[in-house]
Amino acid sequence: LYIQIPRPKNFPPGPRPLPLFGNLLELNITNPLKDFERLADRYGKVYSLYLGSKPWIVLNGFEVLKEALVTKAVDFAGRPQDLMVNHITKGSGVILSDYGPCWKEHRRFALMTLRNFGLGKLSMEERILGEVSHVTAKLEKRVGNSFDPQTMFHNAASNIICIVLFGSRYDYDDEFLKIFIHLYTENAKIANGPWAMIYDTFPMLRFLPLPFKKAFANANKARELSAQLVNEHKKTRVPGEPRDFIDCYMDELDKRGNDGSSFTEAQLILYILDLHFAGTDTTSNTLLTGFLYLMTHPEVQEKCQQEIDDVLGGKDHASYEDRHEMPYTQAVIHEVQRVANTVPLSVFHCTTKDTELMGYNIPKGTFVIPNLTSVLKEEGQWKFPHEFNPDNFLNEQGQFEKPEAFMPFSAGPRVCLGEGLARMELFLVMVTLLRRFQFVWPDDAGEPDYTPVYGVTLTPKPYRMHIKCRQTVK
Ligand code: HEM
Repeated sequence: LYIQIPRPKNFPPGPRPLPLFGNLLELNITNPLKDFERLADRYGKVYSLYLGSKPWIVLNGFEVLKEALVTKAVDFAGRPQDLMVNHITKGSGVILSDYGPCWKEHRRFALMTLRNFGLGKLSMEERILGEVSHVTAKLEKRVGNSFDPQTMFHNAASNIICIVLFGSRYDYDDEFLKIFIHLYTENAKIANGPWAMIYDTFPMLRFLPLPFKKAFANANKARELSAQLVNEHKKTRVPGEPRDFIDCYMDELDKRGNDGSSFTEAQLILYILDLHFAGTDTTSNTLLTGFLYLMTHPEVQEKCQQEIDDVLGGKDHASYEDRHEMPYTQAVIHEVQRVANTVPLSVFHCTTKDTELMGYNIPKGTFVIPNLTSVLKEEGQWKFPHEFNPDNFLNEQGQFEKPEAFMPFSAGPRVCLGEGLARMELFLVMVTLLRRFQFVWPDDAGEPDYTPVYGVTLTPKPYRMHIKCRQTVK
């Protein structure tokens, strides 16, 4: 039954592939994380798998990921092309764009624009705090009751990106926002799900009306909405006075004219979807995981609150700078990110040239799965790899210390472009809410279930939180 697909010379080892399927049948295609762990135990930290006739390599553990993504940075900085996600997004802006000038120019532009925010009258911090005040108002109405916070955190995370990209936020029951978030959350699950694996493994099935068509329809709808936003901006913008990311990009288009660069209006439409998508599901699921653990570890929650009260005193609101005075809270937020493991397999990479890794030869064009899960839970890298424990980020003196293996944002040239923004959001949201409210696991909620739902992002199962008021400072 097995065939001998010759692995390239000195290629990482792995299970023998079947004709047509490759190693697909070895994997639980609804959630392969456990299989990836099992295969690493059997074949080592770098191993290979065939999906159909295409070889992939899976990278496990800090040492391997560091060598590939940081030391051999450019060699591993490509993105696979011709997968379902590429076809859905039409090779959009930056996330799935291959290593090259278009990716480089757009990445640089976004980093600069986000850094200078700065844009218009408000700083990024003020924008985030503005959104947090809407979350606070929403929770205030729930005091004494319990409710499911999933939609609220999705809306808040989305709004923060909307403010940056489009210059406007949306009410939490706004239809526009609901449609956008629905399209993203659904596509985030489809993109790493079984139908995506089937699409990628069996090209001949791509044209059939199978469930992956839904992801294409979702993407088309999202593109329509995005084009609508760009058109509205065209009517109201004042060149040279940007209000938001779209205006900045339009200014850049004016400046460049037809210089043959990769900046085009079509790119912009895709790019804002890229950023909106990347910034919504990730941050909101991390927050959801955070509040799940804070409720079920009340002693940790109280210790954060004590520290927050001590540092903020009578101040109106927290600012990002306060984090330096809050080692315990910082440790908790980092520990939340470690256990949340929000993007468990990172975004897939691809080699840009023939290269070597841990003594193996890896040809150009090999698809690469950086298994971030294997680093965030790796024995030997963490004091308590398998439990929620802020001591993972505290030294003997109680000071905050970040082990190198903390890579929820991945590492190297492709490291998450929104890391700075995400960290600011996580800090300001968590500190503001913990200062004001106590979050309690409801009496009637049974045992908490920490097992997340698998997708490009890991999502905690829906839960309810009971809200109590702590104090009445702003
Ligand atoms: C890429 C994690 C929030 C924008 C990534 C990657 C990870 C990640 C693991 C893949 C890196 C790689 O390919 O090696 C996270 C987590 C977040 C978060 C855990 C929140 C807790 C955000 C936000 C934005 C964003 C708020 C919005 C600006 C991006 C973009 C990329 C990316 C554009 C693609 C970068 C590239 O290909 O060059 N993120 N992210 N992310 N992220 Fe995030």
